Amino acid sequence: MWHTITLTKEDLEKFKALRIIVRIGSGVDNIDVKAAGELGIAVCNVPGYGVEEVADTTLCLILNLYRRTYWLANMVRDGKKFTGPEQIQVREAAQGCARIRGDTLGIVGLGRIGSAVALRAKAFGFNVIFYDPYLPDGIEKSLGVTRVYTLQDLLFQSDCVSLHCTLNEHNHHLINEYTLKQMRPGAFLVNTARGGLVDEAALASALREGRIRSAALDVHENEPFNVFQGPLKEAPNLICTPHAAFYSDASCTELREMAASEIRRAIVGRIPDSLRNCVNKEYFMGASAGSGGAGFPEGLNGSYYSAAAAIASGAGPGAALQAAHSTTANESGNQNPTLPHSRPAV
Ligand SMILES: NC(=O)c1ccc[n+]([C@@H]2O[C@H](COP(=O)([O-])OP(=O)(O)OC[C@H]3O[C@@H](n4cnc5c(N)ncnc54)[C@H](O)[C@@H]3O)[C@@H](O)[C@H]2O)c1
Repeated sequence: MWHTITLTKEDLEKFKALRIIVRIGSGVDNIDVKAAGELGIAVCNVPGYGVEEVADTTLCLILNLYRRTYWLANMVRDGKKFTGPEQIQVREAAQGCARIRGDTLGIVGLGRIGSAVALRAKAFGFNVIFYDPYLPDGIEKSLGVTRVYTLQDLLFQSDCVSLHCTLNEHNHHLINEYTLKQMRPGAFLVNTARGGLVDEAALASALREGRIRSAALDVHENEPFNVFQGPLKEAPNLICTPHAAFYSDASCTELREMAASEIRRAIVGRIPDSLRNCVNKEYFMGASAGSGGAGFPEGLNGSYYSAAAAIASGAGPGAALQAAHSTTANESGNQNPTLPHSRPAV
């Protein structure tokens, strides 16, 4: 499933035989992962498919904020003429352009994309710092960047802040009226992670007041983003792109292939052992330890599915698949050890 679909606990409860959800993407914030785990539904993602694209897009946005390329190009397209390098029009049009070398880029979340951004940013001359409370010490040494231990420190020290953390229950509106005021006056903000990380109303005020010099957002609180609606409607100095940072022909092919491969592993192997990118494995591991070797927790959708056993019994992979979705077993009288708690006959 794509990021545009949301699955709440109530939605998930309606799927009586669902074993696995594969997000065609990396963020799983649109799925109640905990509820899925409790229901025995494995949630997988496709991490890494567009790391290079998102990192490149992030740099593209950062460079646009520093060099104002987007606004300058729009002026040219609108017919504005500039004569001579020292002309007053150029100075006016390019006002806000800044030199990158020596400025500090603050990265929030040094995961796959955050670190790819860090490596690229260093080549442009940024002094790179990061805040990520979930990483062990030492990563800063491998990447040659500086670690800070509070968000406040990062905001105080950064000329440009770029968000690369996952959205979770702890960091909704991480960038809000209060934290925006902790940023350096005239700082830049880039968000290619998730819209929910930024309070858009607070950002709009900060842009209007010039406290934030300019911002670039690929992701928004409400998507698809409508530039004519919402708090950012008339905000100045803002570049918005339509959640497209991940996109390239190559990344989309890779994404689909990787998602399909995970489903294949689920079908021909075991859930969760055969899965490569299961994000709620802990629900299955704990259950399998305490279920007397049966390998599946009581009351769940039956995530222990041994297709291999069905194949070994001579039924073949097709039969294994068919068995997994059989409607002949019922909740209470389930006789088939490979099919705990299958959907009752309908
Ligand atoms: N715009 C797009 O097209 C696009 C495409 C892919 C991913 N994304 C988003 O990019 C972000 C990064 O993806 P990734 O693959 O690098 O994820 P990742 O899991 O590799 O890295 C995320 C990092 O954020 C850290 N983190 C979590 N909460 C934090 C917090 N409150 N403060 C600081 N750090 C925190 C984690 O410890 C982790 O290291 C995600 O939000 C993802 O949804 C966007």
